[in-house]
Amino acid sequence: MNQALRRGALIVFEGCDRAGKTTQCHKLVEVLKREGHRVELMKFPDRSTTIGQMISQYLQKKVELEDHVIHLLFAANRWEAVKKMENLLLNGTTLVVDRYSFSGIAFSAAKPHMDFEWLKQPEVGLLQPDLVLFLELSSDVASKRGEFGQERYEQPQFQRSVRQIFRKLQDKSWQVINADGTPEEVHQDIYEKVKRSIELVSFQQLKKFDK
Ligand code: TMP
Repeated sequence: MNQALRRGALIVFEGCDRAGKTTQCHKLVEVLKREGHRVELMKFPDRSTTIGQMISQYLQKKVELEDHVIHLLFAANRWEAVKKMENLLLNGTTLVVDRYSFSGIAFSAAKPHMDFEWLKQPEVGLLQPDLVLFLELSSDVASKRGEFGQERYEQPQFQRSVRQIFRKLQDKSWQVINADGTPEEVHQDIYEKVKRSIELVSFQQLKKFDK
């Protein structure tokens, strides 16, 4: 089949803070590039945009924002990337994305008085991932990974609530990855799944989140 018609895969990494997502994203991109794949790494929040800078200020506790407002800003930060993502995918570039809409929903839903159905609405119409790799860390290993950072949300109790909400969001595109192993062990598990996904979706249409 014509190689040029193949689209890239949208691969998303999710999980609680300190599960090793960023390390695994970099490793995966490096290996795929070495094999000759067209691949790009993306990260949400993208703190480089104007909206991303507002988000960053909020996470660093330099400003306070109402909970619905920050939720919409996180979603807007994904919407401003949607055209670029679509073009890359259609041109055959696989995107490896460090956090996406599921973090958006789970972190907001862990706050009091947030309506779960309302939280999902700003994500409707965004590109739907082909594969979600959910990195799960046992509480034993998590407690050995050292202190949380200083940003908002980096607290054990809040992270436990986020983790429970993530479970509610799982669908058939999710693969739960045991993140307790060494970076290399975890990578091997991820690599096999990603290779299969790239092959499987290359002639499929891009999908969008629906209502
Ligand atoms: P980071 O540490 O991966 O840069 O993510 C920053 C924090 O933002 C992290 O605690 C998760 C949270 N977050 C949201 O609350 N909503 C979102 O939509 C995203 C992408 C992240």
